[in-house]
Amino acid sequence: MNVLEYLYPMRTFLVTSGTLERPNVMTADWVTPLSMNPPLLGVAIAHRRYTKKLIDEYGEFVISVPTIELLKDVWIAGTVSGANVNKAERLSVTFVPSKKVKAPSIKECQANLECRVYKDVETGDHVFYVGEIVEVTHGDAFKDKPDVEKYRFILHVCFGNAFTTNSSEVFRV
Ligand SMILES: Cc1cc2nc3c(=O)[nH]c(=O)nc-3n(C[C@H](O)[C@H](O)[C@H](O)COP(=O)(O)O)c2cc1C
Repeated sequence: MNVLEYLYPMRTFLVTSGTLERPNVMTADWVTPLSMNPPLLGVAIAHRRYTKKLIDEYGEFVISVPTIELLKDVWIAGTVSGANVNKAERLSVTFVPSKKVKAPSIKECQANLECRVYKDVETGDHVFYVGEIVEVTHGDAFKDKPDVEKYRFILHVCFGNAFTTNSSEVFRV
């Protein structure tokens, strides 16, 4: 087992880059909140990803929150490279214009966090992109507080093709 798998299960997200006319989307588990003010998040992207090339070119990306219904697309986005294939044509999701960045948002996702690169840090075989969240659009699940009865998020069980989702059980303290 890889040492990083001790951190799993981890939530799974989509990273959209490029432009509405020529979007690319990849799957990412390694996404984390970093700061509330300014609002910052981080995503670790391997050097060889086509997404890295596009983020370096445009300085912008979108982190989208997919639901378990999108698992097939999430798997394609995470196993096929946009360097070889126009993934937008392979996926069933709808790319829509973002409000403040060139990279498009994904209509079927429950939230789209539009980011501008604030900093990038070399971390071994990945680059850790710190993104400033400049705009957010969202669906019903985020009308007030995140509502897990309104959407089923994707949880990656371990490296490989096993995923799970939230149960409707909520524990309060
Ligand atoms: C569930 C899942 C999670 C992934 N998480 C990451 C990640 O956090 N960082 C990363 O660089 N690659 C991650 N990958 C691999 C990329 O999504 C994959 O290599 C993708 O094909 C890259 O696409 P691109 O070359 O078009 O950018 C993940 C793949 C899967 C299936």
